[in-house]
Amino acid sequence: MRQHLIAPSLLAADFTRLAEEMQMVNRSEADWFHVDVMDGRFVPNITFGMFIVEAMHRLAEKPLDVHLMIVEPEKYIQEFRKAGAAVITVHAEACTHLHRTIGQIRETGAMAGVALNPHTPVSVLENVIEDIDLVCLMSVNPGFGGQKFIHQTLQKTRQLREMIDTANAKARIEIDGGVGLHNAEVLLQAGADVLVAGNSVFGAQDPVATIAALKAFSAVFDR
Ligand code: DX5
Ligand code: ZN
Repeated sequence: MRQHLIAPSLLAADFTRLAEEMQMVNRSEADWFHVDVMDGRFVPNITFGMFIVEAMHRLAEKPLDVHLMIVEPEKYIQEFRKAGAAVITVHAEACTHLHRTIGQIRETGAMAGVALNPHTPVSVLENVIEDIDLVCLMSVNPGFGGQKFIHQTLQKTRQLREMIDTANAKARIEIDGGVGLHNAEVLLQAGADVLVAGNSVFGAQDPVATIAALKAFSAVFDR
């Protein structure tokens, strides 16, 4: 059976208590840790690099889903893999030779993901869809947590679902940005497989219960 996954985004964690926040996710029903790497060039914000990812890996009891919002990601794939990334996602907009970069990720043994900015059509993936494990549809402009969900993502999710099913490909659809209890169900209905949730989890009164509620929504769609 194909399970739907919940990936809390550590970008919204309290970094003065990172270990505690990660233990909370370890204890919860979450499936992956979503880890946002930003370089101040591909996106206006800067977060952290492999040194911190490696520390996170030591605390994580679940796979690290590493979302690279950086230019020239091909230069750093090996290092993020060494730091413990289970999934490595690069942006299509940052890769001149996307097919080659996907191959480089696969060679490391990591799952290969490609992220699309809100303005990038899913059709750019037509010729690589069979080679990837994950498509990350950005439902906000990347760079910051806590933004409003861009509603056109729903239509994009449906289009991508159709592309994947028609090709009989195995890529999972991940939705990243502004996701929470208010829109989880409609995204799952549209064909999402992985929901990234930052502020809706870490900003909740009871993060463990929020993760459980997201998981319960998604379990209905497991197939
Ligand atoms: C945005 C990041 C997201 C972010 C999501 O650039 O890629 O992963 O952490 O945060 P929320 O869920 O708060 O929108
Ligand atoms: Zn992300």
